[in-house]
Amino acid sequence: MNTIAFAGSNSKTSINKQLVTYAVHLYGEAYILDFNDYSIPTYDIDIEKEDGFSDEVIRFYQTIKDAQIVLISFSEHNACFTAVFKSYMDWCSRIEYQFFKDKKIFAMSTSPGGYGGRNSLEAGIKLITKFGGEVLEEFALPKFNENFIDGKITNIELDHELKSKIQSFKNKV
Ligand SMILES: Cc1cc2nc3c(=O)[nH]c(=O)nc-3n(C[C@H](O)[C@H](O)[C@H](O)COP(=O)(O)O)c2cc1C
Repeated sequence: MNTIAFAGSNSKTSINKQLVTYAVHLYGEAYILDFNDYSIPTYDIDIEKEDGFSDEVIRFYQTIKDAQIVLISFSEHNACFTAVFKSYMDWCSRIEYQFFKDKKIFAMSTSPGGYGGRNSLEAGIKLITKFGGEVLEEFALPKFNENFIDGKITNIELDHELKSKIQSFKNKV
């Protein structure tokens, strides 16, 4: 099955990209995409009216569309997912509202704080579910800087939690 993974961030040093990359390593294989690989402006209804959907928007939408399995890690800005994530979702939703339909999702978040970006995780799950995605497992990693070093989760309990959720996800898809 076609599997993709991404962080809801355009940070070149995204901690959520680091987490999702580790999750892919545990899962097996996935195409890891990066918002920086696309040139997409903030969603603007006037741009849509004047120019329609750019090739870059269609390329991003098509990458999501072609996947059956999606691993996402939601970055948190001010107790929600990032503006860039919302903008990408807004563009895709204008092409087809249910663009996550029938996709199986592993949803994650992390932040430097003790709540691990759970606000963005909850908001992200709500949005993706509206678009038709089915979230089968979720995981939040608190205190990224303490618990994630050299590409891995160093806290044994949290690492075990992620590994068992990945296994459960694999059993369900
Ligand atoms: C504008 C802004 C708002 C933030 N708000 C929160 C927040 O509400 N909760 C939180 O845990 N971290 C917050 N952070 C810290 C981010 O979680 C941190 O920058 C993290 O690295 C973002 O994820 P990323 O590296 O994947 O982009 C905020 C950071 C920025 C720049």
